[in-house]
Amino acid sequence: MTTGKEKNLRSANWFGRRGKDGFIYRAWMKNQGIPHDMFEGKPVIGICNTWSELTPCNAHLRDLAEAVKKGVIEAGGFPVEFPVMSLGETLIKPTAMLYRNLASMDVEESIRANPIDGVVLLCGCDKTTPSLVMGACSVDLPTLVISGGPMLKGHWKGKHIGTSDVWRFDAAHKLGQITDQEFIEAEACMARTQGHCAVMGTAATMAVMVESLGLSLPDNAAIPAADARRKVLSRLSGRRIVDMVREDLTLSKLLTRKAFENAIMVNAAIGGSTNFVIHLLAIAGRIGVDLSIDDFDKFSQNIPLLANIQPSGIHYLEDLFYSGGLPALIREMKSIIHQDALTVNGKTMGQNCESAEVYNRDIIGTMEQPFKPESGIVVVRGNLAKDGAVIKPSAASPALLTHTGKAVVFENIEDYHARIDDPDLEIDATSVMVLKNVGPKGYPGMAEVGNMGLPKKLLEQGVTDMVRISDGRMSGTGFGTVILHVSPEAAVGGVLALVQNGDLITLNAHNRTLHLDVSEQELDARRNSWNQTETVHPRGYVHLYQTHVEQAHLGADMDFLKGGSGSTVTRDSH
Ligand code: FES
Repeated sequence: MTTGKEKNLRSANWFGRRGKDGFIYRAWMKNQGIPHDMFEGKPVIGICNTWSELTPCNAHLRDLAEAVKKGVIEAGGFPVEFPVMSLGETLIKPTAMLYRNLASMDVEESIRANPIDGVVLLCGCDKTTPSLVMGACSVDLPTLVISGGPMLKGHWKGKHIGTSDVWRFDAAHKLGQITDQEFIEAEACMARTQGHCAVMGTAATMAVMVESLGLSLPDNAAIPAADARRKVLSRLSGRRIVDMVREDLTLSKLLTRKAFENAIMVNAAIGGSTNFVIHLLAIAGRIGVDLSIDDFDKFSQNIPLLANIQPSGIHYLEDLFYSGGLPALIREMKSIIHQDALTVNGKTMGQNCESAEVYNRDIIGTMEQPFKPESGIVVVRGNLAKDGAVIKPSAASPALLTHTGKAVVFENIEDYHARIDDPDLEIDATSVMVLKNVGPKGYPGMAEVGNMGLPKKLLEQGVTDMVRISDGRMSGTGFGTVILHVSPEAAVGGVLALVQNGDLITLNAHNRTLHLDVSEQELDARRNSWNQTETVHPRGYVHLYQTHVEQAHLGADMDFLKGGSGSTVTRDSH
């Protein structure tokens, strides 16, 4: 630990000042009961907190912040906790994704505008991780991420349950296989502890992402929220961020091209969410690393599914932790991973994982004996998705990965809801369900509706999966043969907008193709009569978003937010 005044601290430009400005900066900290020597000359650590009672997955983060504060003080720093916009997946309408970029602006400006030398990002529920990391990247201070950790797995009627069961319960409820009472009972049995979803949904995928990028201490991804070791990790993170400030270990020193490639490979092995693509592209755009949608396919190839976790497998995040955690899984990949990628603790990824052991081969497989041979993200292209679309083969039905069927088109999500259970809807198990206008601009906010439920009449026939195509996203807890993120989206005149009922569509995920069997002349004729009504919201943030959001294959960030502005504040007089 360093004592006394430390050199070159950004915060000294506030607390180290003489005269009126310094007086003001310090005096109003003292009104919180903070002695002078707590903050003068010490690394000031911002604890950027997404705690909110409207984000139930993050409702315990103030407890973790207290643990971080203890660690910061133990290492000779001064902790300051501050709130930022929190995005709860379950409550926010129309979709939390609409606000990811807005929250990232809050984070970026809050960090830069304040006397902060280093920052700890406390996140959990899906969008709270990318929004915080994106915002922090645009400032580029020493930064360390702590995830809230997964819930313990649910128990209902003698079985374990998790968020992926919501889709199954819904289908069973539709068919009358479970009663209203049972449905309500299952709610309380599933989300029974603090933390984010217990399966490899987007929140867990994001926790894996930050650990595989090197932005968290080892084991961040899987320690359950309810486990005391989550607090230990937080306290150790608090200690470590102070030293990161002393070492000037900024985000851009960690987030190299190798770190991004590691994250893509680990995401494949863990069976991570398709939302990973959108968020990692946006993060790369902020930190200035050249990453394209094709990199996800390229670096996923030949990586099998090593983690037997829902929705691609059968187990839960806490099982991953008890089986050795993410370091043990990454160690299985040592022949392909960039072992020399630097991480927040100053060690390389290889060093962090070299002594990790696998305790349960039912949960963490080997490269030679994986749970599924195909995993990761497949990027398909064709006249229906010129700039690409994604599919997660480990969550799909292998037989449907090569399929030709007639389109059943829904013009928007309201149209889908209105007609999906119409007994007269012309649809069978071979049909391809097409949903338009749920993309970044069109929804707006790129809703998680791509894994649209099957029609009741087909569920009753025992159909469990069909090819579905949309410009929207899918919950990381969802599954099925679902082609997502079609780019360009329908709302900007992508070919998806021109699909009509009965058109033949061919998916060949093995060949990376998605083809609409309609001639160019016919598409031109449809394009000429395509008459999209103006959908840009007249005012406010949604207007800004729809005017500036980029397409899915670029990460759906807003064009003017790409890159960063650093940590310098140019105008600073009172
Ligand atoms: Fe918050 Fe699943 S709803 S992580």
